[in-house]
Amino acid sequence: MGTVADISDAIAALRRGEVVVLPTETVYGLAANALDTAAVENIFRVKSRPLQDPLIVHVLDGAWIGRYADISSCSEHVPKIVDAFWPGPVTIVLKKKEIIPDIVTAGFDTVAIRCPRHEIFRNVLEQVDFPLAAPSANPFGYVSPTGADQVVRTLGDRIKIILDGGRCSVGLESTILDLSRDRPKILRPGPVTAEEISEIIGENVIDYAAHGLSENPNVPGQLKQHYCTETKLVLFDGKDGKFDQNFSGEVAVIFAKKPDSVAVISQKMRIPERNIFWLSEVGDMRTVAKNLFATLQKLDAVGYDAIMCELPPRSGIGVAIHDRLTRAAAKFS
Ligand code: TXA
Ligand code: MG
Repeated sequence: MGTVADISDAIAALRRGEVVVLPTETVYGLAANALDTAAVENIFRVKSRPLQDPLIVHVLDGAWIGRYADISSCSEHVPKIVDAFWPGPVTIVLKKKEIIPDIVTAGFDTVAIRCPRHEIFRNVLEQVDFPLAAPSANPFGYVSPTGADQVVRTLGDRIKIILDGGRCSVGLESTILDLSRDRPKILRPGPVTAEEISEIIGENVIDYAAHGLSENPNVPGQLKQHYCTETKLVLFDGKDGKFDQNFSGEVAVIFAKKPDSVAVISQKMRIPERNIFWLSEVGDMRTVAKNLFATLQKLDAVGYDAIMCELPPRSGIGVAIHDRLTRAAAKFS
């Protein structure tokens, strides 16, 4: 059973080439020395992750980029992104240097680099002084964890060291921005939005997800079905008021914003009040993002016959929430 350990245990384990779970501000990560092929193999094994799905390399600050990526050939946008958003939830994809083993990048000539904001993760990076490859700390295809309890529940029997950094403040995986080609492109929508990035780099960045074009065959690891619950997940648009789907059995409903009257909703949907949940009291989308994965995992563990979840408007951070929810529900459609 994975134990909630302290930081010196984690550092020692990482130096031995083992994997440990560390908190980031987005989701918990399953970390190992990114420069050590055998250590990185452990990540793929623990997660049952296919080797074609490349990993993000986590660094302490912008000064580490040049060690792992070829910045001579890369876009002038890198310093602007680093100044504006690091440490924080933007991952940049750049041409890789040889020092990064092929297993990390799934054989591609690019590497994804991210500088996390969480103090515990930063403390570990500072002390080990090597970059950490870290995917989200969930079994492959399952919902990402935003609390140490969720890691213990899903991977606890496979991992010895889990550092508990509390609930992740952001709660959705980082935005992935490809700066390795001619035009900057968002490969995965996330907490930092296309508008925020476009403003900083002074040009319109392409975001496929915002236009419903998330199936981009050039992007490794971006599967149509991902982040799935075990329980059947059904999405609905809160605006159209169509709650009259007929489900048999016990159904839970998740709203983005607390309904004005839970009693009215309960009657209208024919669902008991105790099965009605919401992600934010006032509908604040950052709070919705923060609570989404934890709520999905909590309800998934109950064993409902179905979970219905409201789809937020596809703007701002809603683009990323929309992306995660539609991928999660794709398994059931
Ligand atoms: O917030 C996050 O990014 C979290 C925390 C732990 O840092 N990490 C995370 O990692 O979400 P993961 O492995 O669950 O998702 C990483 C995704 C891959 O599935 C792939 O789509 C993309 O990053 N990726 C990695 N390397 C890439 C590359 N060289 N080119 C394009 N996409 C890449
Ligand atoms: Mg993941």
